[in-house]
Amino acid sequence: MRGMRTKKRTAILISGRGSNMQALAGAARAADYPAKIVLVISNRPDAAGLQWAKANGLATLVIDHKAHASRAAFEDALQQALDGANVELIALAGFMRLMTPAFVERWRNRMINIHPSLLPSFRGLHTHEQALAAGVRIAGCTVHFVRTETDTGPIIAQAAVPVLSSDTATTLAARVLEAEHKIYPIALKLVALGCASCEGEKIVISEGDTEMSSLFSPSM
Ligand code: GRF
Repeated sequence: MRGMRTKKRTAILISGRGSNMQALAGAARAADYPAKIVLVISNRPDAAGLQWAKANGLATLVIDHKAHASRAAFEDALQQALDGANVELIALAGFMRLMTPAFVERWRNRMINIHPSLLPSFRGLHTHEQALAAGVRIAGCTVHFVRTETDTGPIIAQAAVPVLSSDTATTLAARVLEAEHKIYPIALKLVALGCASCEGEKIVISEGDTEMSSLFSPSM
């Protein structure tokens, strides 16, 4: 029985606003959602998302990277917190720290990220500015497993939105963000169910492709 399946214990890592965290936490409230958000960790004490997480009954933790002498020391503290909460999956949601290869490898195929472009286009920062500068007519977002190189890794889910001639980076970001909030919960669900498996560096979806494709409305 699906409802009886054990939920994957998931940590969300944030650095800021946390709107993707909210989307994941919202989806995870459903009784039959296969992931449970057991911990929200921020590397910034002032991350706005922390307030929302606390107000909504999620366990939160600040691991301030500035209080640690090195990236490795920061990650040791992170790993300790994850172990302490028996975390099985990590969802990065606007987490703005680069991770060491050792940490990334340790969480290989158990750590996902959302990036506001159709990867492999427009990796890194200022994504929307990059898209506008390139003059693309379609933008979007990607959920992928994390690999050592920033914004690379097997693609689990993507959604596309139109780019309008009147767009600024701000208006485009807002349109893409809406799509992010739709696909991230679906992607986490697929991963938690074990339905997104890596074959080489590509993902094969065994179940749930229809849910993803229902997001592509023919009227768009
Ligand atoms: C999102 O656009 C996400 O794709 C990117 O950083 C932004 C975080 O926004 N990685 P939020 O904190 O989830 O609101």
